[in-house]
Amino acid sequence: MLRVIAANNLSPQPYSNHMTAKTVFLRMLLKEFPALYFRLIRIPNLCTATQDEKFWKLHAQLLLDGRCTQFPRERYNLWKLAQQLQPLAGAYAEAGVYDGGSARILCAAKGADHLHLFDTFAGMPATDPKADPHFSVGQFADTNRQKVADYLAAFPNVHLHQGFFPDSAKDVPADRRFKFVHLDLDIYRSTLDGLRYFYPRLVRKGAIISHDYGNKTAPGVKQAFDEFLAETDEPLIQLWDTQCVLIKTRD
Ligand SMILES: C[S@@+](CC[C@H](N)C(=O)[O-])C[C@H]1O[C@@H](n2cnc3c(N)ncnc32)[C@H](O)[C@@H]1O
Repeated sequence: MLRVIAANNLSPQPYSNHMTAKTVFLRMLLKEFPALYFRLIRIPNLCTATQDEKFWKLHAQLLLDGRCTQFPRERYNLWKLAQQLQPLAGAYAEAGVYDGGSARILCAAKGADHLHLFDTFAGMPATDPKADPHFSVGQFADTNRQKVADYLAAFPNVHLHQGFFPDSAKDVPADRRFKFVHLDLDIYRSTLDGLRYFYPRLVRKGAIISHDYGNKTAPGVKQAFDEFLAETDEPLIQLWDTQCVLIKTRD
């Protein structure tokens, strides 16, 4: 595969732990044969998304970096929604950061706005075996705060809040309001805590986008949303592949 890349005049980079032959192949395909790549990942060529060069360049970089646990369409939804909400007042936030892949997308979309990132940066906290049968304490522990800080160092106004969320939100300025929140916490308790923390701090027309709402292996996320929406009368939009979006319709 490295020979193919050389033939296409791309500078091959040495394999890292993360960079598999598949990753290198996908990146080459995206760069040299985009129509084939989009067919492979099932994005019809007529979608304007395929023409978003900034995004696909970033996506190729994330592939190489071996970061971001989300599907291409989900990454694009994050990128697009973060851009669309830019004109509103308020800050960006992500709860569930792991090694910073999805946060990297938000950094590229947010401009100079504040972005608050919440994670233990040391793995999943205690889980509820009934609500979260496929998750356990300590998953996603192969990261750390410094690694994420280094990865996002080029971007201004990025704030890392390490520790158990929502306790870790104590150092967020009391008057901080949010226009865009990405929840990617995987488990019931954390997702419910995320909704209860961020919804009252969301500006009108701001949105919470969550990963895993439609993920069979993360039933706790849907359970948390269903419970929260029974308390809070707001519309919820479920997206392809697993995401959902809650838009705040009132002050
Ligand atoms: C799937 S990973 C996030 C992936 C990341 N958004 C990405 O796309 O690369 C889920 C993360 O949620 C974090 N998490 C879950 N509940 C938490 C809580 N209550 N406090 C802090 N971190 C939590 C875990 O530590 C883990 O890193």
